[in-house]
Amino acid sequence: MFKIAVLVSGGGTNLQSIIDAVKVGELDCKVEMVISSKDGVYALERAKKAGIDTYVVSKKEYGENQSNRILELTEGKVDLIVLAGYLSILDGEILDKFKNRIINIHPSLIPSFCGPKMYGLHVHEAAIKKGVKVSGCTVHFVNNEVDGGAIILQEAVPVYFEDSAEDLQKRILVKEHLLLPKAIKLISEGKVNVIDGRSKIY
Ligand code: GRF
Repeated sequence: MFKIAVLVSGGGTNLQSIIDAVKVGELDCKVEMVISSKDGVYALERAKKAGIDTYVVSKKEYGENQSNRILELTEGKVDLIVLAGYLSILDGEILDKFKNRIINIHPSLIPSFCGPKMYGLHVHEAAIKKGVKVSGCTVHFVNNEVDGGAIILQEAVPVYFEDSAEDLQKRILVKEHLLLPKAIKLISEGKVNVIDGRSKIY
C-alpha cells in the first residue's frame, strides 16, 4: 500500500480532500501520519477524526532540527510527503532522502506569485493588484528553492475585476481540492517522472 505523510499548519481543507478521496476509493493509499508545525490547528482535529496518527513538530520546540525531526518520523515509513498548507520551510537531509518524493500545493500558477513570503492571502492580493485575468493552483515537487521544484499539475481559474482576495482564494481552493488528490494518485501509480527539472506525466 502506498503510504503518505501530510504536513499541515492550518485549517487543513486540502488534508480533508485527501482523506475523503481515500475514503471513497478514488485514492488507493494510506495517510500514515499528519505532522503539524503548530499545535491547536484544525487540521489536527480532521486527522484525529479520521483515525490518523498526529505529531506536532514546531520551530519553537525543534529550532534548526525541525526538518530532521520530520525526517526521523517519516523515513522508511512513507513513500511520499505531501505539504498541504504547510508554512515552515523544509531543509537539509530530508530534501535528499526524499528527492522527488515531497510535493506541495501552492495557490497560484507558478512561477507567478510564489516564493518567500507568498503564502495565504498575500498570494491572492498580489494577483489582484497585478490585474491578472487568470490565476489558479500548482502542485509541484519540493526542492531547496521555495516553490521552485518541477511542476506536476496546474489548474486555472478566472480572476474578476470585483474579486476580493478572499473571493479568489475560495475559487482556487475548490480546484486545489481536486488537484492535490489527483497528483498523489498519479505519483502513487508511478505515472510521474522528473526529467531535466520538468515532470512528464504518463
Ligand atoms: C492552500 O491555499 C494551499 O494552497 C496553501 O495553503 C492553503 C492551505 O489551506 N499552501 P488548507 O489548510 O488546506 O485549508
